[in-house]
Amino acid sequence: MRERTVIAPLLLDWYDRHARVLPWRVPPKGGTGDPYRVWLSEVMLQQTTVAAVKSYFERFTSLWPSVEDLAAAPDEAVMAEWAGLGYYARARNLVACARAVAERGAFPDTREGLEALPGIGAYTSAAIAAIAFDRCETVVDGNVERVVSRLFAVETPIPRAKPLLRELADRLTPTERPGDFAQAMMDLGATICTPRNPACAICPLIGECAAQKRGIAAELPRKEPKKPKPMRQGIAWVGFSNAGVLLERRAEKGLLGGTLAFPSSGWDGSDLAPPADAPWREIGTVRHVFTHFTLDLVVATAPLAQKPDRGNLVALDEFDPKALPGLMRKVWDIAAPKDPSAPPVTASRARTKKQG
Ligand code: ADE
Repeated sequence: MRERTVIAPLLLDWYDRHARVLPWRVPPKGGTGDPYRVWLSEVMLQQTTVAAVKSYFERFTSLWPSVEDLAAAPDEAVMAEWAGLGYYARARNLVACARAVAERGAFPDTREGLEALPGIGAYTSAAIAAIAFDRCETVVDGNVERVVSRLFAVETPIPRAKPLLRELADRLTPTERPGDFAQAMMDLGATICTPRNPACAICPLIGECAAQKRGIAAELPRKEPKKPKPMRQGIAWVGFSNAGVLLERRAEKGLLGGTLAFPSSGWDGSDLAPPADAPWREIGTVRHVFTHFTLDLVVATAPLAQKPDRGNLVALDEFDPKALPGLMRKVWDIAAPKDPSAPPVTASRARTKKQG
C-alpha cells in the first residue's frame, strides 16, 4: 500500500463479490490475464462502451486468437472488422503493434516497454502493465477521475484537476492486486459511482467519501464550460449503375483514413466536384459528431451511365454495409435502395430524411 487507507481493501473486497463478468477478464484473484486479450480490449474500450465492445472483442479473438494471428492478418481484413468502432488510426496502429509484438516474441511486461509500442499511450500502457502483469501502475480513465474527485471532494474543474486526480489515485493504488484494483475502480465508476444519480447507499466506500459527506457527490467532478464544436459541411455522392454502387477507399492520411466510403467533397466545403456527371438529387442530410467538429453531410444519389474515373462499382449483393465506418453507414441508411430488385435511383424513391 502506498498510503495506509482502508479504501483499497474495501474496494477489493467489493470487487471480489461484484466484479462484472467480461469476456477479456479473469475473475478476481484469478491472476493475470492474457496480455493479448487485455491489450485488445483496452484499445477497443477507448473507442466505445463495454456493452458495444463485447461483440467486437469476441469476433476479433475468434478470428485471431493470438497476437501472432492478428500480426499475420491482412490489413484490409482487420480494417473491415474494426468498421463501426471509429477512429481508424487505431486499427492501423493495432496491426502495427501486433506485428511489433510478434516480431519481438512477446508483449513487454513493463509500462515503459509497452508505451514504446505503436498506438499504446500512457493510459493503455498502465492498464496492460497492471492488469496483465500485476505491475503497481495507476490506471486513470474517466471513471477513475470521477471516483477520486468524489472520494476527496475535489472541486477544481476537469481538465485542470487532472494532475491532482492522478496524484490522489496514485496514493490509493495498492502494491498487491493493482490490476484488480484498477478494474474495481472502473467497475465502481461504471455501476455505482455513476455520472448522474450515483448509488451512494450501496457504495462500499460510502464511509470514506468526502463528497458524499458534504452532499455534493452527484455534482462532481466539476467541468470547465465546453466550447461548442464547430460545424462543417460536405456532400456524399452515392452513385448506382447496373454494376452496383460506387465506393472508394479514402486517403490513408486524414479523417477516416483508409476506410471504405462513398465519394465525398472535402468537409470544409472544398472539392465540390461530383465523381461523375449524372443527374444528382439531394435526398437528405446526415449528421456525425467527430471529436473536434460536427459534420452535416448532404447525401446525393444518381444513376450512373458509365463507370466514373473515381472509385469502384461494387455489386449490391457483394456489398456489406457493415464494412463501412459509422458516418458512411448513416449515408447508406438513407441512400440504400429499398427494393433491391428495382432499377437504380428513380425520382419516386428520392426522399428527404433528416438525422440530428
Ligand atoms: N474500461 C476500460 N478498461 C476496462 C476494464 N478493463 N474493465 C472494465 N471497464 C473498462
